[in-house]
Amino acid sequence: MTIGISDLAFATAHRVLDLQQLADHQGIDVGKYYIGIGQSEMSIPAADEDIVTMGAQAAAQILARHGADGIRTLLFATESGIDQSKSAGVFVHGLLGMGAHCRVVELKQACYSATAALQFALGIVARDASEKVLVIASDVARYALDTSGEPTQGAAAVAFLVTADPALLEVEPVTGVHTDDIHDFWRPNYLSTALVDGKYSLAAYLGALEAAWGEYQARGGVAFDEIARFCYHQPFTKMAVKAHDRLCRIVGSDLDRDQRRAQIDASLELNRRTGNSYTASIYVGLLSLLERDPDELAGRRIGFFSYGSGSVSEFFTGIVQPGYRDLLRTAADAASLDDRRPIDYPRYRALHESVDAVQGSDYETAAETSGPFRFAGVVDHVRRYQRRD
Ligand code: COA
Repeated sequence: MTIGISDLAFATAHRVLDLQQLADHQGIDVGKYYIGIGQSEMSIPAADEDIVTMGAQAAAQILARHGADGIRTLLFATESGIDQSKSAGVFVHGLLGMGAHCRVVELKQACYSATAALQFALGIVARDASEKVLVIASDVARYALDTSGEPTQGAAAVAFLVTADPALLEVEPVTGVHTDDIHDFWRPNYLSTALVDGKYSLAAYLGALEAAWGEYQARGGVAFDEIARFCYHQPFTKMAVKAHDRLCRIVGSDLDRDQRRAQIDASLELNRRTGNSYTASIYVGLLSLLERDPDELAGRRIGFFSYGSGSVSEFFTGIVQPGYRDLLRTAADAASLDDRRPIDYPRYRALHESVDAVQGSDYETAAETSGPFRFAGVVDHVRRYQRRD
């Protein structure tokens, strides 16, 4: 029996800031963002959007195609949780009208937790092949205004279904894992924005890649040359370029620059426009690769490096399944990026500041977006959501 991902869906927020706006405000050359960190835009949630509305929008596409029958586990991975106790997944479970016989839990480890969810899901299906696990990864990446992390903010969600005999990607069993108790990026409970030691976090990411790859090899993983494409966690897309260059150096690859780029370029396109989506970003990268790579990928192997600051990381691989193109929603995913409403710098700044202004009080949000789900506000400390049918 093979186990893996049978379907993968995407959602993002409905507002967008072009990084030209940020560069103009800062009085710097936008090349630093467009080229230097490899980001062109960032998705910004409107006042009536959050990780639940984006996660529900992604998961609704999975349920529309497969139904909810047989899904007995919903794992919600996020760094930007909306409650210290209740899983964001329970809100999504309610919004989607899923059956009561389902276990729902939220997982956290910075940008790594969606991969933990995937691995846990594989274990559940391995024990009982009739099980289906719905994984949702949804994040709003927020840094303080006027900090170096600010241009790497963003927002997006993915949902994927883990089953036996997967239609999209068989996930192979060998993995390499690595944990290191460090402070490269973190967010204390009292902050709504992340703290990051930027340059250190880049070095920590690359060190973790080397360590996870080393364990992957020691445990019998395939050789570098047997992997056709690579998909990295993308806090900003240039990070994946740096990571792949590093891996090529580690293995002594003689691929030239263009050959190395051909192994990752398609995986960068969606993230370049959403900005960082923390836990979701590597799976947004997978979707981007499947949708945008010009070559036929069926039967070919993808290598994944998942990194969550703090830090926990994992290297693993998967085989793309025949007929995968028929499962993609390429036009709809492109439309969800193209249809975002552009905002200017003052509006972006106001939205950013409004998050902390409302902490702890009752409030109602204006109906700004027209998506299928909206965050309506807070009453008696309870978050209220609405579904539009
Ligand atoms: N045109 C083209 N490239 C330019 C440029 C221009 N006009 N101006 C600068 N650059 C390049 C720099 O050379 C550099 O490239 P390099 O990294 O390949 O050397 C890149 O743009 C970034 O410039 P830098 O001066 O290093 O930016 P910074 O000090 O503002 O910090 C980060 C960049 C990425 C460290 C910062 O945005 C950050 O902390 N981001 C969050 C990090 C994160 O997500 N960590 C978690 C890891 S999982």
